[in-house]
Amino acid sequence: MARRKLAAGNWKMNGVKAALSEIEALEASFPAPDCDVLICPPATLIFAMAAIGNTVKVGGQDCHANESGAHTGDISAEILADAGATAVIVGHSERRADHGESDADVKAKAEAAWRAGLIAVICVGETEAERDAGKALDIVGGQLAGSVPAGATGANTVIAYEPVWAIGTGKVPTLGDIAEMHDYMRAKLGNSHTSEAENFRFLYGGSVKPSNAAEIFAVSNVDGALVGGASLKASDFGGIIAAASEG
Ligand code: 13P
Repeated sequence: MARRKLAAGNWKMNGVKAALSEIEALEASFPAPDCDVLICPPATLIFAMAAIGNTVKVGGQDCHANESGAHTGDISAEILADAGATAVIVGHSERRADHGESDADVKAKAEAAWRAGLIAVICVGETEAERDAGKALDIVGGQLAGSVPAGATGANTVIAYEPVWAIGTGKVPTLGDIAEMHDYMRAKLGNSHTSEAENFRFLYGGSVKPSNAAEIFAVSNVDGALVGGASLKASDFGGIIAAASEG
């Protein structure tokens, strides 16, 4: 069965109400694209964004492992779902770095996402020093082993490979290096999640643009992209959706 590609946008700490017009523009341009489309805006925009249309699904950028409680400033998967989210990013490298999130934390958040009925978009990726030391596969393999819960399926989980050194830098691994990593990830999860091996979608993330999306989507075991900067404008992200629809 062919896996449907996913064009996912992570707006990070960008976006105020005026940016909802970008979603309206995407809805107008892509009433029925041949790929899935997800945008993860700041939590303040989820409710309004989810009300806009059909093509663009909406996600959170992080969630707490608990359902509710005394955790000032945090947001639970249940609250995201209530606002209209259908997915949540967990374990983004910026969360791992800025908030010291461990693989175990990420695993607990993925399980919280499922508890609320959300798809968990679990992020992994090596630093530049780790790649230079020849450890990229080992690092990502360890992150997968530690962050992906036993109950993961192609329906409840998406894996995003985002090399830290490629995020926001304009640097992209060679297509051969992306293929090596994505083939490795499918084989690795195939060992631990045997029956789901062919169902998981593996996104590439890190400096994806309209100009390089098509060649990245053509790489072995690349099932879409997780896009930062180029997801903020409909004019840019539209090019990525179009590439995902063709591939
Ligand atoms: P850029 O596309 O801006 O490099 O960001 C990638 C990313 O971190 C998406 O989660």
